[in-house]
Amino acid sequence: MSTYQPEDARKVTTRRLVEMKERGEKIAMLTAYDYTMAGLVDAAGMDVILVGDSASNVMAGNTTTLPITLDQMIYHGKSVMKAVKRALVVVDLPFGSYQGNSKQALESAIKVMKITHADAVKIEGGAEIKESVERILCAGIPIMGHLGLTPQSINKFGSYAVRARDEEEAAKLRSDAHLLEELGCFALVLEKIPAALAESIAKELTIPVIGIGAGGGVDGQVLVLHDMLGLNESFHPRFLRQYAQLGGVIKESLGHYIEDVKERDFPNEKEQY
Ligand code: KIV
Repeated sequence: MSTYQPEDARKVTTRRLVEMKERGEKIAMLTAYDYTMAGLVDAAGMDVILVGDSASNVMAGNTTTLPITLDQMIYHGKSVMKAVKRALVVVDLPFGSYQGNSKQALESAIKVMKITHADAVKIEGGAEIKESVERILCAGIPIMGHLGLTPQSINKFGSYAVRARDEEEAAKLRSDAHLLEELGCFALVLEKIPAALAESIAKELTIPVIGIGAGGGVDGQVLVLHDMLGLNESFHPRFLRQYAQLGGVIKESLGHYIEDVKERDFPNEKEQY
């Protein structure tokens, strides 16, 4: 049983995340998509909850994040926000809701903030989405950037392999990271890039850098809830640490229930009116 208790019970803000980086306190971030799980993740003391577009995979069963819609993300965001008291909640803008132009990006971000009451949005990309980032920030909406393996571009990459291994891609990533900080993003996710590159970028930036498959030299870590709880039994990338095997626990419990029903053991006399 974990005894972790955050020292500071106040609501986490973008400012407090920067302060955590300044004093060297690592930031714990995890995804959540529904009311019940978000309540548990928040009560555990998570600093940041990401309503990720990975909902497309783990909640809706799609093979990529591309099919999930803005309205579906808003549904998940609203459900999460009803449960969360302390964590900073970030909602992903999904594929197709901001790439068109900066007006579309602003409208999508405003819709998310107005309906979900989340604290911030996350978008994937660097220089190519500069105008959208500027316009969303001008409206007072905090943005978390996302570089490296950006799953919304999976069809361009062609695989989920480690990004920025070569010098050219690493240099572009570094320059995009600096650009996002200069524009005013409050934090940055770096996904599946070499640990040394991620560490050096985290050292250069003043905003917190949160890694997934980016090594331990960054300012915090993020994982997908279903992966780290072992609910997704077939997913074992090198960067993933599984903290439970809940898939097995659930299947065993369901098996016991089925047996009890079949054997007329459930319900017993105490379990009826
Ligand atoms: O959608 C998501 O879960 C994410 C994380 C992998 C960072 O973007």
